[in-house]
Amino acid sequence: MDQIYETCKEADVIVFASPVYWFSVTGTLKIAVDRLYAPQCNWGVAGFKKETVFLMTSGSPAEYNPLAVEWYRYFERMLGWKSLGMVLGTGKAEEAWKLGAIIR
Ligand SMILES: Cc1cc2nc3c(=O)[nH]c(=O)nc-3n(C[C@H](O)[C@H](O)[C@H](O)COP(=O)(O)O)c2cc1C
Repeated sequence: MDQIYETCKEADVIVFASPVYWFSVTGTLKIAVDRLYAPQCNWGVAGFKKETVFLMTSGSPAEYNPLAVEWYRYFERMLGWKSLGMVLGTGKAEEAWKLGAIIR
């Protein structure tokens, strides 16, 4: 986690990416994000506000997986971080490229 903390701290934009597992993010991503709880308090005080992007592949269309989106939105709101956008579902490569292009 020390490496992840440092990387997050230095990053201009943090990309959260996961396949949809049971309507939400994978346990792997959730565990890493859970561990951001401790430093985010200090970062908040120190003004470390981050911009983020949310990318998810899924078997079903995005509207069948609202829990994942809700999880991301609550997380962003609680931390005061700013979402630059989301790309959800399969076959969205063009959409993902467009979102990537605005991150400079
Ligand atoms: C354990 C498990 C749970 C999954 N749950 C969902 C789900 O709730 N909704 C969904 O749309 N896809 C679900 N999937 C499908 C994966 O999201 C999908 O296979 C993954 O995004 C990779 O996409 P691809 O198979 O098109 O490469 C699940 C897959 C696994 C292995």
